[in-house]
Parts: sequence; C-alpha cells; structure tokens
Amino acid sequence: MCSILSCSFLQAKDYLINTPHTSLLISATPGEKARFQYYGSRISESEISGVYDSGLTFNAESYPVFGLNSPGEKAMAVTHADGNMSLDLMVKEVKQYESVDGNVTEVWMQDKVYPFELKQVFKAYKGTDIISTWVEVSNQAKKPITLYRFASAFIPIQRGDNWMTHFHGAWAAEHTMDEEKLTNGQKVISNKDGLVNTETDNPSFMVTLDGKPQEEAGHVLGGTLAWSGTYLIKMDVRNTQFNISAGMNEENSYYTLEPEETFITPEFAMTYSTSGKGGVSRAFHRWARQYKLHGGNEPHDILLNSWEGVYFKVNQEKMDQMMEDFAALGGELFVMDDGWFGNKYPRNNGSSSLGDWEVCKEKLPGGIEGLIASAKEHRIKFGIWIEPEMSNTKSELYEKHPDWVLQVEGRPLSTGRGGTQIVLDLTNPEVQDFVFGVVDKLMTRYPDIAYMKWDDNCALLDYGSTYLPKDKQSHLYIDYQKGLIKTLKRIRAKYPKLVMQACAGGGGRVNYGLLPYFNEFWTSDDTDALQRVYMQWGVSSFYPAVAMGSHVSADKNHQTGRRLPLKFRFDVAMSGRLGMEMQPKDMTETDKEFAKRAISAYKGIRPVVQFGDLYRLVSPYDNKGVASLMYVTPEKDEAVFYAYKMSHFMNMIISVVRMNGLDADKMYRLTDLTPEEEGKPCKFHGKVISGRILMEEGLSLKDVLKKEYSSVALRIEEVK
Ligand code: DGJ
Repeated sequence: MCSILSCSFLQAKDYLINTPHTSLLISATPGEKARFQYYGSRISESEISGVYDSGLTFNAESYPVFGLNSPGEKAMAVTHADGNMSLDLMVKEVKQYESVDGNVTEVWMQDKVYPFELKQVFKAYKGTDIISTWVEVSNQAKKPITLYRFASAFIPIQRGDNWMTHFHGAWAAEHTMDEEKLTNGQKVISNKDGLVNTETDNPSFMVTLDGKPQEEAGHVLGGTLAWSGTYLIKMDVRNTQFNISAGMNEENSYYTLEPEETFITPEFAMTYSTSGKGGVSRAFHRWARQYKLHGGNEPHDILLNSWEGVYFKVNQEKMDQMMEDFAALGGELFVMDDGWFGNKYPRNNGSSSLGDWEVCKEKLPGGIEGLIASAKEHRIKFGIWIEPEMSNTKSELYEKHPDWVLQVEGRPLSTGRGGTQIVLDLTNPEVQDFVFGVVDKLMTRYPDIAYMKWDDNCALLDYGSTYLPKDKQSHLYIDYQKGLIKTLKRIRAKYPKLVMQACAGGGGRVNYGLLPYFNEFWTSDDTDALQRVYMQWGVSSFYPAVAMGSHVSADKNHQTGRRLPLKFRFDVAMSGRLGMEMQPKDMTETDKEFAKRAISAYKGIRPVVQFGDLYRLVSPYDNKGVASLMYVTPEKDEAVFYAYKMSHFMNMIISVVRMNGLDADKMYRLTDLTPEEEGKPCKFHGKVISGRILMEEGLSLKDVLKKEYSSVALRIEEVK
C-alpha cells in the first residue's frame, strides 16, 4: 500500500498522489513497468478500486522508452556506448517523502540489462492543485551514453471531444489565444529560438475532455513546461488514444552523458479542473505566487518606464523631469530603460555598446548616484535596464573578448538588432562571472537600485561555442540555459530583495523556467490597450496579474497608431501590475488629473488585483463587442470588476455581464474607480447589490458602455 504519506491499506502497487482537489494514480511494482493509471478529480484511497472498475484507468507506461516493442511516441531514446539503442526500464523501488514545498513520489527505474537508472519524480505542491513531474537520468556505465529524446512528461488523456487552447504569438502580439478541436494526427507547439521562447507559442496549454473550452465549466487539464529554452509539446492523437509529451526540444540537442553524470529534465507542471479554464488559471496563479515567482506574495510598485517616453534619448534633464512628473502623479518607482551606458561607444541606438555597462558621462554627468538622489528627493524608487547576456560587434566588450561570443568557427558572425547584436556564450563560466558582475557591480556601487529590467532582444543565432568541446557542441541550447539559471541563482542568493523584471523584446520570456528568479515580466512591447485586452487574456491563463507588467502609454499608440481614451488605457493597465510608459510632461492637465486619481484608486485595489482570484467573464475572443473580467479576494469580501467596449456600432446589443466568485449571500457596495470626470461617476456608483443578483443576473452595462472604447472599473466591497 502507499498513499503519499501514509502506508497502510492500499494494494502494494498503487501510489495515490493527492492535492486538495486532484489525484494522480501511479501503479508500480518492483520488477515491472510503472504505469500511469488515473489523473482527475480527487479520490480517496477507498475509491481507487472505483477508478479501476469504472474503466477510467489507462494502464499506460508512466515513462515509455524506445527500443523494444517500439511503435508509437516515446518519452526517451538513448544510444548506449556499444551502439545498442534500446531501453527496458523496470521499477526498482518507490520512495515517498515530504519536502519543504511538496509531497514527493519518486519512481526509481533500472534497465534490465544496462547500468542505466532513471528516476521519475512527481511532486504535489502543498496547498495547491499543482502536480509537477520530471525525470533524472544517471549514467552508471563506464562509458558515455547519448540521449536523443528526453521528455519531462508523458501524459495519457481520455479520448473524447478534446479541444486544445494554446497561446501563439509574435513580437508585439504575444500570447494570442488559439482554440481548436484535436483530430487525428499530431499537434505540436514548440520553440527553436533558444533564448526567446515565448514569442512564438508559450510552453503552456489546456486540453478539454468534454467539448469546446469553457471558462467555468468542463473538465480541463492544464500544463506548462518550466523551461526557457527550446521546447517541444506534442499532442499525439491516434483514434482512440491520446498522449501528451512535453519537454526540451531535442532537435539539434542530442546530449552526451558521461559516466556518473546525471541529466535532469525541466519540471512539467499540471493541474486538472472540473470548473473549466478558470479553474486551471486560478490553480496556476496560486502556485506561481506561492512557489514560482520570486517574491510572489509581495505587492508590486506602480512604475514609470522611460522607454516609450524618450527611447534612447536618455539624459539627466529628461530623467529628472520624468521622475518629478511621475512622483506628482503618485507614482512609486522610475525605471530608466535603454540608452544610459557606453562611453567609447555611447548607446544611441540598437547598434552598439551592449556589454559596456558604464554610465555614459556625456548623457548623465551626475551619474547613477545623481539619478538616485533625484529619485529620493521625489520620494520614489529608482530602477535600471540591462541586457547582460548580449554584446554588439561595436563594443569595448567584444573588442576585448571576441571569444566570449557564440560563433561557429570559420564562419562570419550572424548579427541581430541594429545589424551588430551578438550573444554571449553563457556555457562559459568566465562569461557567467561577467554577467553576474553586471548586476553585482551596479548593486555594489549603487545599493539603492530597487529594480532591474533584464532584457534580451536576440535569438540564439550562431550554434557554436568556443567553450564547449567539439564533441559537445550539440549541448549548446541546453547548457546555455543551465548557465543562465546558474548565474541568476547567484544573483538571487546575493540580492534577494532586488525586484527584477524578465523582458525579451516584450513578452519573449514569460515562462516558469525563468520566473523563479524574477518578480515579474514585461508582457509585450505592444502597449495598445485594445490589443492588450487580448494579450493579457492569454497571459492570464497561466500567469498571475501581480507579475504582468501592464503600462499606460501615449495617445496615439506607438505600435498600432490607435487612439484610445486615457480612461480605457488606465482601466486595462489597472487589471495587471499598473505602470506607465510615456512622457508625462506631454500630458494635458486634465489627463494628469485623471492619472492621479486612477493611480490613487489602484493603490486601494492593489491587493485584490495582485493577489485575488481571477474570473474571466466575457472573452474578447468571442467577439461580443465587450470583454470583462474580475478579481475576488479568497474571503470574497472584496472584488474589482472591469468591462471594456471592444467595438462600436449603432443599436449594438450589449449583453448583461454576470459576475463570478462572490458570495451569493453577501451584500456588496459598488464604487466607480475611474470616473472620467471627477465627481461624475457611472450609474453603479454607491449602489448596494447582493452577490446573488450580481452573479445570477448580472449587471446591465448598456448605459455605461455607450461610446466607442468606453470602459468601466468597479470596486466591489462587502457591506457588513
Ligand atoms: C525591448 C523591450 O521590450 C523594451 O521595453 C525596451 O526595453 C527595449 N527593448 C530597449 O531596447
């Protein structure tokens, strides 16, 4: 018998892994194959026989390997030193124990013939509905072995009317939600960039068991691969069978494992919801805040980022001015973006200076210390932008260390942004020291820096390392990420309080591989509030609002050219981690007044938005002309509701919007958070309505969302 922590009544072979609302059942008997039996709603030990009896068990190998009886997808393929390409893994033993953050089940497997050991791990994170899984392979032979396929997870799914939701994108259009019915064949989401892995698809998906995806109904499995490098997620649908495999993308990455060496795949984290996609998202958000985001339970400041305000034209006067203006609006943190560094080659555009992380004396004669003094004077915090994994061919760093750059011997360098951007070789420990040093030197010299935006505007271009041995060049995609993580761990060990944002040309690194070292991410370089409603909807499927950088930008928008009311722009940005990304001095007095009121209102609702449970109410993807969402505290005593008019026609039907997550028996007072004019709130302001009416019948917004791009943001508080 073995449940996760007690061991008394079950048959010897069943291992039940429980979270508060889900269960995973693995059967494992020494000398036999480990089998994946069930993943679904929580069952008790006494119900195990019930899942067998009801035909719900898969009896599928929990980690199928290549070589014997081989048709079909496999999770792992290797070549042993003698050329044999087969594995035959049998259970050796199963260990279960409690770790600081979860209840762990380890299924140890051993090849029948070769000294090859594999440990398949399942971790149920305490207090969440997330179970993660990965494998650890160790080579106990005397010679190296080569790994050709090494998935983190292999999950069988009940075949039915299965639909998949995933988040596709491109630069400035990240996390666009796509939903499709899965038919026979393979549907693959993958990345081959190596560095920016969420600008194409995000390594996250949801799969339904019973029809079209719905927000608050239906049985859904949600999964994400916690990895920032190339990845491969395959939906393998074959008539009556359906398996999902997820892991690093092995293409061009076969991995040689030396004797005694261990290879650990990234975590694949999953949840199972019987309350639709909303249930999946809320489970991931809680897990992210509790375990996966650095400082995930700490509130985030309202910031102004200098990028769209001045781009590369950073100077002392402009920075001082921006800080003064933002402080007057009630802002809390100023972030100086790109353009502040380089002396031999001052950074005036994207074509030079990365790597020369010295303040440009000409632009900023008072130095960073001057800027920090100015921030202090205005009682706000100061932050700075870096892109430490990169260089340009026009830089002092490259002149000094041409061998530190990824390159293919005997071939010219490929270059990225500005025609000169190149990537440092993070497999090299010297380069890791340098990258650590970028942060360390800044923090040592200027300990008052409160925030760093860590950018990456380049893909892994040239597949070659002067550091990796010739026969291990194929390790580059993987070892780059390992080098990056090692460096970030060092930074975090020394600077745990520093707030860091993960950015990659916008939302290119929104993944749980890197987020454990960052507090938040930049969602997209597209700050157009209308398009952001779609993108943030997609992001919110797996990533919580506290981490989602969401900035109010100029009218007209620099990416799409769209003009939107300031209220709409604020109402959208206030549904994430609010910030601004514009030149405040160009705002009219009326706009400044509005911004001041909105910022002050956000301070009041910050804990609800940043730590509340998300309910997505009306999807922008349903083309109903309206999009709506809300956050609710776990105690259900407070909520924030948003609705946006997405299109505008005469005699347009605006359906009633029904809220969710409140307590039907409580009475709630509604407050307009962002009236367009002071003292002229919308008609719901001050009304007291029961949770039952708000949820069962809803709010009729037809008089409120009247104009093009109108919007509403309401605070909802329990009246005791
Ligand atoms: C790309 C980022 O996404 C922008 O916000 C900005 O930081 C630029 N890089 C700076 O080069």
